[in-house]
Amino acid sequence: MGITANNPKRIGKISPSMMCANFKALEADIKLLEEAKCEYLHFDIMDGQFVPNFTLGPDFMNAVREMTTIPFDIHLMVMKPEDHLHRFGILPGDYVSFHTEACLNVQRTLVSIREVYGAKPMLALNPATPLSTLDYCMDSLNAVLLMTVNPGYAGQKLVESTIGKIADLRTKLDLAGFGDVEIEVDGNVSFENAKRMSLAGTDLYVAGSSSVFMKGESITQRVIELRKCI
Ligand code: DX5
Ligand code: ZN
Repeated sequence: MGITANNPKRIGKISPSMMCANFKALEADIKLLEEAKCEYLHFDIMDGQFVPNFTLGPDFMNAVREMTTIPFDIHLMVMKPEDHLHRFGILPGDYVSFHTEACLNVQRTLVSIREVYGAKPMLALNPATPLSTLDYCMDSLNAVLLMTVNPGYAGQKLVESTIGKIADLRTKLDLAGFGDVEIEVDGNVSFENAKRMSLAGTDLYVAGSSSVFMKGESITQRVIELRKCI
């Protein structure tokens, strides 16, 4: 696994979804994720407008900064994300994604994530949003987040057509000369789905209730199992 036709050296990275964590054991669980060498921590920020739900916010993220040095993978599911970047304590080395469907000035917002915050801009696309939305901003991207469920809730079922979309995106980026732009998948990244996502060309895996935070075995064991799939 982790090998695609386009890039035989592609190695998957794991970004556990903090909205799926056990808040009562947060600090201990983050230590386990650190020991398991998870590369990022994924934070879902929902505003009740772009998506119907509300989830994490700046205070929660500030508290987690005091618990770990793992870089953050901040996923803004908010309308007009360009108005709110300053609220999230973005550090150099973090990924920051926002939705193309929620932003009127996509390219400017990508550039400000890179130039104002020194972070890695990532554009997020809902399952039905076409890849053509990336056509004139690939040079401003470090990564693309493909939603593999419709955003808003943990525990949803994969939108099947998104597996082919991952492969189409990998090909599109490579052909355009942007082979370094990474692909993140978010939603129902189960062990079985992760294997297919890996073959399609995924780099970053948001691990939520379908894998790392699944009820049952230890977090450590689940990270080990996910690594074997990607
Ligand atoms: C979906 C969220 C995901 C979610 C993924 O809107 O962005 O991060 O928590 O976890 P599962 O595995 O529950 O789909
Ligand atoms: Zn997310």
